[in-house]
Amino acid sequence: MSIHPLPPPKEPTGLGRLPVARWFLLIGVVAGVTFAAGVVVVMAMIGQAAALAPTSEEAAQISRLTQALVVLFALLMACGAGLAVIVRYAVLKPVEQLAGQVRAVAAGDFDRELHVDRPAELAELSSHIDSMRARILSAWRTATDQAEELRRSNGELEQFAYVASHDLQEPLRKVASFTQMLEQRYGSELDGRARQYIHYAVDGAKRMQLLINDLLDFSRVGRITGERAVTDSGAALDRALENLSATIEDTGATVTRDELPRVDGNALQLTQLFQNLVENALKFRSEEPPRVHVGARREGGMWEFSCSDNGIGVEPKYADRIFLIFQRLHPRDVYPGTGIGLALCRKIVEYHGGQLWLDGQPAGNTARTTGRTTGRTTGRTTGGHGATFRWTLPAAGDAR
Ligand SMILES: Nc1ncnc2c1ncn2[C@@H]1O[C@H](COP(=O)(O)OP(=O)(O)O)[C@@H](O)[C@H]1O
Ligand SMILES: [Mg+2]
Repeated sequence: MSIHPLPPPKEPTGLGRLPVARWFLLIGVVAGVTFAAGVVVVMAMIGQAAALAPTSEEAAQISRLTQALVVLFALLMACGAGLAVIVRYAVLKPVEQLAGQVRAVAAGDFDRELHVDRPAELAELSSHIDSMRARILSAWRTATDQAEELRRSNGELEQFAYVASHDLQEPLRKVASFTQMLEQRYGSELDGRARQYIHYAVDGAKRMQLLINDLLDFSRVGRITGERAVTDSGAALDRALENLSATIEDTGATVTRDELPRVDGNALQLTQLFQNLVENALKFRSEEPPRVHVGARREGGMWEFSCSDNGIGVEPKYADRIFLIFQRLHPRDVYPGTGIGLALCRKIVEYHGGQLWLDGQPAGNTARTTGRTTGRTTGRTTGGHGATFRWTLPAAGDAR
């Protein structure tokens, strides 16, 4: 099996750049030259001593000294040669062998076993490295298998949600329209209670239609309308506001905005995102006429957007819960809705590689804290003081 090769190794600096074999060679050459010079000097001195016309006893002593030195030099040479052989076959070769194996693993061949059988230290080192390789490989394989399994089951679930909601639409439409026809046609013959029952049935069917449409939108993210391109987020907000124009007029809301940037995104999904957030800001309004502000500021390679309102706000303890699908904090007769909006928004933002959170809350990421709020919105995040949602999207085409 082969996976991504590792990055190239760090280059050593200073004297460490010279491979150990070169060091041995250098030291060997210096020792050899010194040895040869020593032999020449000693022989020259013996020659000079012999030239001084020594007595026969001195001559015999010089000859014994010469023999002893020859034996000593021969022994030294044998030791030098032995050391060179040992260094070559017991150190340099195994190190080279191990380095070659490690290089192959680092180049991506993670199934390659590491093994050298001598010397003892290198054999131990190679066995430890090999057990680490085997352990990391097995953990990596398990993680890959699990990720694959998760992807598959997620895909199946999304497919199921899509097919179920798609196929449910038709029978539901029938139920709703025939119940309405029943009321229109036989309404005069029915008593008040029967008409009320029909009204409940129609209302239930309509609610279910809304739910199914929202579920369809939710399961579509990343599957059907997924293409991403350089998108003007301001235009996406325009479209969202246009879709909400009736509600904006009814509620007397004021929607203001910063200059909005271009991002790498899907226009349709960005419209859905703005629409859901602004719709919530209008729906969960307080006594005052709603004021909504959509802002953006650059954060590295991402744009951080915000949508703040002066509505009823969200209690900090529910900051995570509201992003779960079907989770709502209020009874349906007070604030209608399906509880899918924020889950859809989070899915859209995450599909774009960003994050969405309620300001002032960690939202699963400890880096997101109140400290990051801007002067514009600080202190307007908790119950009764409005809510600010923030999200990030990848920048594109650098508008500013
Ligand atoms: N701007 C907001 N102000 C106050 N509460 C909000 C706001 N946006 C969302 N919420 C809370 O989060 C819950 C989930 O929102 P959402 O998923 O859009 O569902 P829905 O709008 O259908 O109720 C809402 O029921 C509401 O309690
Ligand atoms: Mg909503």
